[in-house]
Amino acid sequence: RSQRAVEARRDQTVLDMRATLDHVGIAVKDLAAALAFYRDALGLHVEAPEEVVSQRVRAHFIPVGESSLELLEATAPDSPIAKYIEKRGAGLHHITLRVDDIDAALAQLRTRGARLIDERPRPGAEGALVAFIHPASAHGVLIELKQSAAHLRSAVPSPQSPVPTPVARDSRVQRFSLGDLELISLSDGFFRL
Ligand code: CO
Repeated sequence: RSQRAVEARRDQTVLDMRATLDHVGIAVKDLAAALAFYRDALGLHVEAPEEVVSQRVRAHFIPVGESSLELLEATAPDSPIAKYIEKRGAGLHHITLRVDDIDAALAQLRTRGARLIDERPRPGAEGALVAFIHPASAHGVLIELKQSAAHLRSAVPSPQSPVPTPVARDSRVQRFSLGDLELISLSDGFFRL
């Protein structure tokens, strides 16, 4: 009847996807000032930083319940995060959603015409599978999907199998790998996986 009722009705073909907020990546310009707020004013615990020397980036995780805040700090003026802040300013950089079935999530996004950075999931840190959704489809927010190792299934290659080559649809996307830690650069941005 009303327009509202129409909007509220959910398409029966939509897969019911459960997602948990894993972490929120925040690009900070002045770490001391950021710590003065998040650690001292808010009173939150900040974990020991993880540095990626080659990317001139330091990540500071702040547990908040089942999720974390991830402060991203540039360690040099030519750092990708410094360039990101130069262009867009400090603030929200990406959010990471943990899902039970990343393949199903990607398949549904694909059929709905969403622009994906990763057509297929690829290995992330700590045995997880990850894939990025382009901000153009997520209304300006860079979204990382993550399926943790606990939810991996038989479809995941065994350690003996060759790791599938990531498929990057977007030619501006560049990847860097440093052991467990992978960085991805999307034209003017960067994020830890
Ligand atoms: Co992150």
